[in-house]
Amino acid sequence: MRILGVSGSLRNESFNKALLEEARVMLPARVTMQITDISNLPIYNRDMESDLPVAVRVFKEEIRETDAILFASPEYNRLISAALRNVIEWGNRPEDYNVWDGKPAAIISASTGVRGGARSQLHLRQVLVDLNICAMKGPELFLGDARQAFDLSCKLIDERAKARLKSVVEHLVDWTTKIRSGSSP
Ligand SMILES: Cc1cc2nc3c(=O)[nH]c(=O)nc-3n(C[C@H](O)[C@H](O)[C@H](O)COP(=O)(O)O)c2cc1C
Repeated sequence: MRILGVSGSLRNESFNKALLEEARVMLPARVTMQITDISNLPIYNRDMESDLPVAVRVFKEEIRETDAILFASPEYNRLISAALRNVIEWGNRPEDYNVWDGKPAAIISASTGVRGGARSQLHLRQVLVDLNICAMKGPELFLGDARQAFDLSCKLIDERAKARLKSVVEHLVDWTTKIRSGSSP
């Protein structure tokens, strides 16, 4: 099984990207995870649809080939980031090249605020309905006060958060297996 990690933060020392890195080492055997780089994607513009930029094609094929997606969503002004919204649009267009349809997914978030990005998760969940992405309902991980949860080299040191992240990853693998076998609830 292949999982694609998509972080909505472009920041080098992003806590959300760091959560994906932690998740990658928690995967069960026979499951791999690639973390995609979305920093080189242009802002979505319908005029580009007739001649898609290479970076967009590469991103879309990564989505198409993956079995599941793990979104790590920073919260900006109580919403998902512009970078995440941009890749959502590119994945969805052109109309006959929608690569999101039916993909199993889970959402995690880290924030320096106390709510851990919970509002961005709600916002993202709403958008995923429109894309027909099958978002897992739980367990959930909203990691607040992220500066305390990571050390200076962006390693997750909060043991409760680590346990919760492992649980999210394990459930995503089960969720994906169920959806792929047609036995999803
Ligand atoms: C433009 C901007 C808006 C933000 N808005 C929120 C917010 O609404 N809620 C929140 O919890 N944190 C907010 N933050 C703080 C982010 O949670 C924090 O910068 C976090 O580290 C971003 O994720 P990253 O580390 O993955 O880049 C905001 C940060 C920026 C730069």
